[in-house]
Amino acid sequence: MSSRYGEVYQSWQKDPQAFWAEAAGELEWIRKPNKIFDESQGVYGRWFPDATCNTCWNALDRHVEAGHGERRAIIYDSPVTQTKATFTYRQLRDEVATLAAVLTDNGVTKGDRVIIYMPMIPEAVMAMLACARIGAIHSVVFGGFASKELATRIDDAKPKMVLTASCGIEPGRVVQYKPLLDEAITLSSAPPEKVLLLQRPQAQAPLIAGRDMDWATQIAAAKAAGKMAACVELNAIDPLYILYTSGTTGIPKGVVRDHGGHMVALKWTMTNLYNIKPGDVFWTASDTGWVVGHSYICYGPLLQGATSVIYEGKPIGTPDAGVFWRVISEHKVVALFTAPTAFRAIKKEDPNAEFLKKYDTSSLRALFLAGERADPNTVQWAEDCLKVPVIDHWWQTETGWCIAGNPMGLGLLPIKHGSPTVPMPGYDVRIVDEAAQPLANGKMGSIVIKLPLPPGCLPTLWQNDARMQDSYLSEFPGYYKTADAGYKDETGYLYIMGRTDDIINVAGHRLSTGGIEEVLASHPDVAECAVIGIKDDLKGEAPCGFVVLKSGTTKAHDKIESEIVQLVRDKIGPVAAFKLAITIDRLPKTRSGKILRGTMKKIADHDAWTLPATIDDPAILDEIAAALKRKGI
Ligand code: COA
Ligand code: AMP
Repeated sequence: MSSRYGEVYQSWQKDPQAFWAEAAGELEWIRKPNKIFDESQGVYGRWFPDATCNTCWNALDRHVEAGHGERRAIIYDSPVTQTKATFTYRQLRDEVATLAAVLTDNGVTKGDRVIIYMPMIPEAVMAMLACARIGAIHSVVFGGFASKELATRIDDAKPKMVLTASCGIEPGRVVQYKPLLDEAITLSSAPPEKVLLLQRPQAQAPLIAGRDMDWATQIAAAKAAGKMAACVELNAIDPLYILYTSGTTGIPKGVVRDHGGHMVALKWTMTNLYNIKPGDVFWTASDTGWVVGHSYICYGPLLQGATSVIYEGKPIGTPDAGVFWRVISEHKVVALFTAPTAFRAIKKEDPNAEFLKKYDTSSLRALFLAGERADPNTVQWAEDCLKVPVIDHWWQTETGWCIAGNPMGLGLLPIKHGSPTVPMPGYDVRIVDEAAQPLANGKMGSIVIKLPLPPGCLPTLWQNDARMQDSYLSEFPGYYKTADAGYKDETGYLYIMGRTDDIINVAGHRLSTGGIEEVLASHPDVAECAVIGIKDDLKGEAPCGFVVLKSGTTKAHDKIESEIVQLVRDKIGPVAAFKLAITIDRLPKTRSGKILRGTMKKIADHDAWTLPATIDDPAILDEIAAALKRKGI
């Protein structure tokens, strides 16, 4: 089949508002949009400003009302707890309406924030949808973050309530969430009034009287009283959620998503990008703590009336490198979406894909990859194993959905390894130089998107229009700065080569080296430091911290280094995957005092590098190389 991509992209270019008005027709509105886009509102304009709707209605009730209540909404598959469960759309709607009633009974109302700090269990998705139902704004915090990170998010979002569970399960250890939450609340300047805690059998958490409530007890009481909350009428431009993501400092950015534009954009992608029909089983192997989980574990598949797999496990070790194939064959998954690192892990463990022979994966139509650069070797390996199209696509927490991809629903375009293919309708993607001037095909530059951003992308940062302007809109006036660098080839295919800021990508997780440096600098023996991301075969990049100690420090260097590693784990969390601290005598700098992180990275990665003309003392680079060598790098 030849692709309709060109024709559809052109129709968007010709009349963006007509394009999104038509897409909006796929959803149910309480008050239909008359005005599609208002450029006078918000930082760069707002989509569907006069419409009203409810995302939870569209994700659940709409399907039940249409007679699909017995269709499976969620399949929960948890190899780490040996549990499986299924919820139909009707069951999920009822669970969500009951939980929403519990929230309402506890004073949570439209516009209130609710933090969700939970592992990959159905209740995490129920919590998100329950908030959406009553217009509360959820903010999910990934379980791998430590107390301080959680506290920072609590301080910014000022939640009325926190929804949590007693624990998460990582291979070989039970992660107790409650002590982390209690410490975060102690650290926080805006403690929540209430905590609703789901006790899991693997760990019982003590409840604090007057603040903490038991999830099961509250739900049972609401059910006994027949309480269910109805969907609340919300403005399409009301916030649905805040999702914090790494910025250049330790203070994360609160990316806001609205109700109307978000559901329109996601629904469009389910049909046209992922080619998913109602009733199809779609599996996103990520976590609800990340944007990929928000969009494609929770909202996208449910808005489409598809069945979403919630997987609590890893690609390897739970129990083996065949578990992805087991889940595909057992649940008849038609499309899998994950990060390349998951496939690198499977490939490393089972290079000849021996486990694949044990399973029938013929239901699978495509593998979608995102979250980090999909290296051609991994893409090739996945294609050879699975014999389905392997589709890389590029997006960010900020956009909430794919900027560039290969639209399977419109007919696939030829796949070029190393490229996420072409911009989706809604995105006018340009490659520019520092003066915002367009660059020729093949030339690498900053990737920017002409404003306005399409529906579904962030309208602003939570209560911080100024930071939104400053971070994304001021450097290239009229454009959104993606902070990614790359180029277009002669056929318009995009290539995403890396970040232009201090963000690194570790196992598909986005981390700020600036944020890690703040932690290193807080160690009493550290005078100066620099963190870089160095090449890692499995995780893409791994953080590496160089520290210069205060003069007169007598403690052994290896002792300080292990304290620093522990400090990052305690302050940011295990997700930082910070394992390498290296003591050096001095940092390489320019004559004006700027640390030469780029050159340090090239040395660590064994890439070719040239001596920066502005370097203060070239001998320091040899010291860096020697220090890395001592650590086996
Ligand atoms: N709660 C608590 N701790 C968590 C956690 C969670 N939800 N998720 C991860 N961690 C911990 C891990 O246990 C690990 O701890 P350790 O240092 O004690 O081993 C640490 O955080 C780092 O985790 P991760 O980077 O995930 O590494 P890993 O070695 O556990 O697993 C992969 C490596 C490749 C298997 C894993 O990263 C993976 O499955 N990736 C899939 C891609 C993905 O989900 N990307 C998200 C964006 S799409
Ligand atoms: P996050 O906001 O955590 O989703 O991270 C977004 C960043 O991950 C992007 O800005 C890119 O740097 C990187 N990224 C995501 N998807 C891709 C991809 N398909 N190819 C290359 N880089 C990607």
